[in-house]
Amino acid sequence: MVEAVEKCMLFWINELENEEIGALFKQLHQGKRLRAKLVLKIAGESKEAVKLASVIELIHAASLLHDDVIDEASVRRGTISVNASEGSKIAVMMGDILYSKAYTELANFDQKISQAVAKAVTTLSIGEYTDVKMGEQFNSDADAYIDMIYKKTASLIEATAYCAAILAGKEPQAYSLYGKNLGLSFQIIDDILDIVSDEKSLGKPALNDYKEGKTTLPYIYLYNAMDEVSRQRLQKAHGCLLDADEASWIKEQMKEHRCVEASYALAQRLSNEAITAVSRYDETALVGIIDDMMKREF
Ligand code: FPP
Ligand code: MG
Repeated sequence: MVEAVEKCMLFWINELENEEIGALFKQLHQGKRLRAKLVLKIAGESKEAVKLASVIELIHAASLLHDDVIDEASVRRGTISVNASEGSKIAVMMGDILYSKAYTELANFDQKISQAVAKAVTTLSIGEYTDVKMGEQFNSDADAYIDMIYKKTASLIEATAYCAAILAGKEPQAYSLYGKNLGLSFQIIDDILDIVSDEKSLGKPALNDYKEGKTTLPYIYLYNAMDEVSRQRLQKAHGCLLDADEASWIKEQMKEHRCVEASYALAQRLSNEAITAVSRYDETALVGIIDDMMKREF
């Protein structure tokens, strides 16, 4: 039960004996808790599984606090972001507190688990760094995009599934592959939703990635399908606030070249591979996580 994870995180935060930090933590929107659900579905609902899920969710929450500072985002999960309401200094420090408390608790786990999570967080940070650097220029290389989203998003989900499998005495490599492909697919869907969804459903501004300099998969497919004149127009809009004309031109072009469909097809292929990786273990709940993730609207 995810409620047990919420309770565990709150207990740990209360151990810090700082009311302001406790209050700020309670204000954070809980989000989808994808990583916690993944741990509990793979490892069951033992005390250790709840603690592992709590460690991972605290790290994830810390990474989003920092990411919103980096992206200068004012909205997160439908509410004002901490950097917007409290300022960047508080958001960075809150991230550091959640992150270091998570590591304090992680240190109590078997070394195989603590090392895997720690390694994934380093990869995650390199992924975020790469995302920032890639945003400085238009990127038309799909492999570079996939490598970046593997690091930024899939590495922690991969480590989550791997560690949960170790806790449960299951085969870690198969679950690791499931987690990796779930993570890749999750980020591709996230990047598609930025284009096809609206602010109300997303809980953050829509059509925002390209403005932020992020050339996500549908934009890469679009660029590669276009003639030279259109390519130049697309590249000119990179990193800029899109006016209504430019936004609708990009959306029309994407429709014409079926870029969202092609991106969705790749996410589906990765999702199928994730399911195949654990198919011999009769994991219907893990199939359910993939289905929900593929069908989500935010
Ligand atoms: C969201 O990406 C960001 C991530 C998945 C990872 C962020 C990682 C870090 C800031 C480094 C690690 C830091 C700590 C403290 C562990 P996005 O901007 O594409 O998604 P969004 O639209 O939800 O903001
Ligand atoms: Mg962001």
